[in-house]
Amino acid sequence: MRKLMVVGNWKMHYTVIESLQLVMGLNNNYTRDVNGQTVEIVVCPPFTALADVGRFLTQTEIKLGAQDAFYEPQGAYTGEISVPMLKELNCEYVIVGHSERRHILKEDEELIQKKFAAVLRYGLIPILCVGETLDQRQKGETEKVIKRQLQSALKGISEENSQRFVVAYEPVWAIGTGQNATPEQANEVCSLIRKELSDILGNGAGDWISILYGGSVKPNNAAELISQPEIDGLLVGGASLDARDFTSIINAAKK
Ligand code: PGA
Repeated sequence: MRKLMVVGNWKMHYTVIESLQLVMGLNNNYTRDVNGQTVEIVVCPPFTALADVGRFLTQTEIKLGAQDAFYEPQGAYTGEISVPMLKELNCEYVIVGHSERRHILKEDEELIQKKFAAVLRYGLIPILCVGETLDQRQKGETEKVIKRQLQSALKGISEENSQRFVVAYEPVWAIGTGQNATPEQANEVCSLIRKELSDILGNGAGDWISILYGGSVKPNNAAELISQPEIDGLLVGGASLDARDFTSIINAAKK
């Protein structure tokens, strides 16, 4: 189902106490209902804070997400966290294939596909990140890269799950750099993603899947980005670490 969403990816920031302070600040500030439209708000704290933040969020309308998950439900996988473990902590969403995991942690397409499938298998909603590097954009390869990432992650998806996920377009060159894609650039690639989703999944599936933009989203550019017709929401890194900034972004999410 296509939803207006604002997702905060806290990355490797904040202890348990700091995480609780942030989410309490956020809960005091935000309004989920903006101009009569409901915004799905999701926060993705580090693993260590999920349990406490999740417990607090049960009294609120904010949803909990994890930043990653392993594809097996349990076993000898030192250091990994499974989807059922996240489900127990009230997680509803899991980010899969974030560019920092693709590039710094060297996750390949096959691993991302397995993680994406596992998140669906255990009933949580994957937020699949796709995006090109600066070099790929300059070589005119954006479309090719995005298509490859989508085709590979969605391999083997069942019809039943074919609209039960979210895609985030995150150009690698815009993440944490302060250099966001222009609203037109972001809209163009989100439109391409929608078309490719329909091609892969059939039945005009792309029209029913939420597509977010991420990469240096700030209070001063959120409204312009979200006003684009193909952009259903925002995936926010740095600016989600401050309750006031994140609230401003949520408030800007009015179409
Ligand atoms: P940023 O990160 O907003 O700090 O650029 C976005 C992301 O990585 O999801």
